[in-house]
Amino acid sequence: MIADPQQHYAPLMDVLPGFEMVPAKITIPIRERSEATPGKRPYIFAKKMAKVGQMFLSGQFPYLLLSGPTGTGKSEFVEQLAAHCGWSYEMVPCAKTTEIAALMWQMGIEADGSTSYIDGPIVRAMKRGSILVLEEFNALNPSELTYLNTILDSRGTPEPHTGTTVVPHPDFRLAATCNDVAQETGVFKGTQTQNPAFLRRFSLKVRMDYLSEAQELQVIAARAPGIQKQPLRVMRQLAVACRKMADDGRIGFTCSPAELVAWARLLVFNAGADENLQLAYMATLLQVAALDALPQGEAVDVHNALDGVLRTVLSKGIAELEKEHGQLW
Ligand SMILES: Nc1ncnc2c1ncn2[C@@H]1O[C@H](COP(=O)(O)OP(=O)(O)O)[C@@H](O)[C@H]1O
Ligand SMILES: [Mg+2]
Repeated sequence: MIADPQQHYAPLMDVLPGFEMVPAKITIPIRERSEATPGKRPYIFAKKMAKVGQMFLSGQFPYLLLSGPTGTGKSEFVEQLAAHCGWSYEMVPCAKTTEIAALMWQMGIEADGSTSYIDGPIVRAMKRGSILVLEEFNALNPSELTYLNTILDSRGTPEPHTGTTVVPHPDFRLAATCNDVAQETGVFKGTQTQNPAFLRRFSLKVRMDYLSEAQELQVIAARAPGIQKQPLRVMRQLAVACRKMADDGRIGFTCSPAELVAWARLLVFNAGADENLQLAYMATLLQVAALDALPQGEAVDVHNALDGVLRTVLSKGIAELEKEHGQLW
């Protein structure tokens, strides 16, 4: 324990870079970086998420559930919260076959060939006082969630091979993430019927949504330096159109920030900082950034939507742009 709590708190708005500012007097606990602290990347903490991060790290609300459409920054929020505040971090991807017991203790092999138990990610995080993330926890088998509940509730978990009790460090935090595509098929709904007991344990349940226009543009510009204004406008408008179609159930493609960043980086790689070339290559590079992985009909819908957006922004469609500047391949 540190004697001077001042040393371990810093103004929230100085620690978590955000587009909107939270009141200057709110502070957030910071820790000394360790090898288990992730590296910092440009991440925009929306005002609400900066506050959620502060409540979560405070220790009073140590279990956080994050849901929302894919690509809205759930996983990176937790990772970058740890990165910016210096906390150690463990990430566990969940699958149908994932067993909580195997994430608690694992069998290790010594140099002489004998076996012994070693701490798995959950116990490591509990002992060290790390932020533990269960990615896509809703994939877990319900009986595994039940087992996890007992661990979360207990004041200490007996270690089967030593007989000692693992008591969670005061800095232990648990975040669980899950994806949903549309509100109606929302995972909250699905998991509630599956395991209400698990959800009840989370004092913070936050649905993350897409960033605002200004924030999303800022993210793309930060991650794809060299991307120009007009292509950015086109990208954002296409993203809005795709998310609308996805909400209406017409397509599954949501044009996530991750896909926009990939597309922008491909544009800069191939066109440099030349705005007209970037515009001319948009259709071709959207193809390899996203559309080639979609069902044919869906890819055609998105391609046509891009043509429409280009026409409203530039009064030129894909064909005219490619005629003016040449095709990439
Ligand atoms: N607030 C944000 N600041 C910076 N990048 C973001 C933000 N939100 C989303 N992104 C981008 O979206 C990508 C996907 O984020 P991720 O956390 O994997 O989404 P999720 O877990 O919700 O599916 C990130 O790699 C990043 O490029
Ligand atoms: Mg994720």
